Amino acid sequence: MKILVINGPNLNMLGKREPEIYGNRTLDDINADLIKKYENVQFTFYQSNCEGAIIDAIHNASEDGIILNAGAYTHYSYAIHDAIKSVSVPVVEVHLSNIYKREEFRHKSVIASACVGSICGFGEQSYELAVTALLNR
Ligand code: DQA
Repeated sequence: MKILVINGPNLNMLGKREPEIYGNRTLDDINADLIKKYENVQFTFYQSNCEGAIIDAIHNASEDGIILNAGAYTHYSYAIHDAIKSVSVPVVEVHLSNIYKREEFRHKSVIASACVGSICGFGEQSYELAVTALLNR
């Protein structure tokens, strides 16, 4: 099983960014844990702060599934919604924080309806739950 993990804007700042919300671990730490925990999964990791680059990564995915934390693009990028709809690779939406417990603008995900499912609020475990969901499909 091959999984592409895409992280969007500001997720390269994990470890420094609002640790009270996102924790102290870096994106590299989180990715390394996935590799260690799921030895049978071949992961590719991609992070970008640019909407178009994330769209290109979705279009070019040759993996069996995508785990996508689109960061703030989640809440307003119809272009990422359309990119997910334009490929047949299943996409699982993830968020570290519980977006429904936070500011109102985060309560709406415009990408959720294009994804096979969404997981939020479990910190870095959100990514593990997404791997499990893809493995069980
Ligand atoms: C996030 C939640 C988004 O609202 C926010 O803009 C992020 C991170 C999360 O993982 O909790 O950048 O996607």
